[in-house]
Formats: sequence, C-alpha cells, structure tokens
Amino acid sequence: MLVLPLLLRLIPLIETDMGKLPLPQGVLIESTNMKHWLKWVPLQVPCHPVSYSVQYQGYFELYIKNGSWEDAPHCQNINSLVCDLTPGFGSDSDYNVRVRAECGGLVSDWASPGLPFNRRQTNLTAPKMRATVSGDSIQLAFADLSETVDVTLKHWRKGLELEASVQYVTAERNPFHLGGLEAGITYCLSAQTVLHNKRSASTETQCFDISVSPGPTRIWLKPTVACVAVVTVAGMALAAFWSVTKCCPAFLNTCWPKEPLPDALLHRESNNRLKVVLGEEMSELCQPVLVLLPSPV
Ligand SMILES: *[C@@H]1O[C@H](CO)[C@@H](O)[C@H](O)[C@H]1NC(C)=O
Ligand SMILES: *[C@@H]1O[C@H](CO)[C@@H](O)[C@H](O)[C@H]1NC(C)=O
Repeated sequence: MLVLPLLLRLIPLIETDMGKLPLPQGVLIESTNMKHWLKWVPLQVPCHPVSYSVQYQGYFELYIKNGSWEDAPHCQNINSLVCDLTPGFGSDSDYNVRVRAECGGLVSDWASPGLPFNRRQTNLTAPKMRATVSGDSIQLAFADLSETVDVTLKHWRKGLELEASVQYVTAERNPFHLGGLEAGITYCLSAQTVLHNKRSASTETQCFDISVSPGPTRIWLKPTVACVAVVTVAGMALAAFWSVTKCCPAFLNTCWPKEPLPDALLHRESNNRLKVVLGEEMSELCQPVLVLLPSPV
C-alpha cells in the first residue's frame, strides 16, 4: 500500500532523468548601450556536447501572432553560453526570452530570466573614445556606437569649460571630425552616451595642444609646390615660343616654310570664265525690240 504512491512519485522523476535534461541555470539579460545579451551557466551533465537554443516573444508575437515564439537569429544549437539579442529586440515593448539545452537527442525545458525585459532598461556607460590630433582638427573614433544610441561630445578651450560647445555624434558621423581649431590653443573634451533623456557618465576629460608645428604646414606645402612648378613651366614655354617667333624668323621658316600661292588663287579677280558668264547673261538680257513707227496715212 505504501509502495504504490512512492512509485507514482518516483515515475516523473525517473522520466525527467531519462527523457529530459535539467533546466539551464543562471539565465539573465545583460544590456549595455542598447546591446542586449542573454547569458546562462553551463549545464552540469555527463552528456557532451551540450547545445543551446534561444527564443523570444515581444508585443508582435504575443498579441499579433497568438503568443508564438521567434527563434533568436544565430542562437540555435549553439555551444556558447551567451546570445546576442540586439537584432531581435527591435521595439520598446516588453520581451519574454527563454533558452533550452539539448544533448544526445534529449532536451531540457525552457528556462527564462525572472522578468520580461524592456530595452529601455539598458545601462548606459561612457563611450570608448580614441582621439587623434591632426593639424587643426581632432579625429574622434567611438567604439561600439550602435544605431540606437548617440554620443554628445563637449569641447572647450582649457579653463573655459563653461563656454563648451556640444556636438551630437551618431553612428553615421563616427569617426567624428572636430575641425576648425585654433593653433597654439589647448582644447579639452569629454563625451557621454545618450538615449532619449538618459545619459551615461562622462568620459575622463582629455586635453590636446593644437600646435603650430610643421604638421599642418606640410598639408598645404605639397599643392603649393605643385602650383609653382606648373606656373614656372608654363611661363618658360611661353617665353621660349615668344623668343623663337621674334628673334629667329629664319628658324621658323625652315620648320614651316612659306609656299608661294598658286596663280589661280592670286589672280582670282581677273578670272575669265566669270567674265564670259557675265557677258552671256548681259547679252541674254538684251531682247531685240521692233519699234513700229506710225506710218503716214
Ligand atoms: C545595469 O547595471 C546594474 C549595476 O551594474 C546591474 O545590476 C543590472 O543588472 C544592469 N542591467 C542590465 C539590463 O544589464
Ligand atoms: C489566432 O487565434 C485566433 C483564435 O484562436 C484565430 O482565429 C486566428 O486565426 C489566429 N491567428 C493566427 C495568426 O494564427
């Protein structure tokens, strides 16, 4: 009598052990600067290799597609312990996420982080910024700048932070060119990641001397030298041509000798044929006219 309930209780346990893998543990979403990752810890089972698959469900799947789940792209049967959900979380709606393990034909149940995730919960961190001074400008490259977050860049003359100018740097404007800086001045800058009204901490302030060194000089030196060379060569060619035409007409004649014009061209005025034609026309114009005088009656 006591054995039967015990057996009945044991059956699901045995089933779980035989037909299913245990649930993945430590499932959580980490999100920084609008990059979202689902993470979990490796399954402790004798089976090898264990692979994992991830699905998600947002407003669209929940209410338009009757609660169906979407396979997370690039996160099907993967061996890693992290899935990049950034491409899937396309809206500001709440998302349910789940992961399950598979090994040797066995699967686990789906495991979820405790609560739905909304990408507005993303943590903002100061941008990773690399600055390079070149002439009178500073080139700023921001690592990991995504389409959905922007960076505000503040720059000011050293000691005049209250008069700082602020620029927005979007993914399209990265790397950013901060130009028109004055030589001999020290500029300082710092940046923040922004998302709607949220702001990250600022980067550490970095200061740069915009020098009057040969760096910027060389930039205009090359075209100037080229221009001077072209003008000089053109001038020399003109001078050479002028001196040849003016000073050595004999030399010109040997190169391009003057041929006498043929007679026909020289005596065009006195062309005979013209005269003949003219004469014929004249004679044709002269019609004989018979004048009848009134005869005396
Ligand atoms: C945001 O940062 C806090 C503190 O580090 C952390 O506890 C939390 O899990 C983070 N949230 C996300 C969505 O990554
Ligand atoms: C969702 O479910 C309803 C009712 O069960 C059904 O009428 C409708 O066709 C379903 N829509 C989709 C997209 O499956």
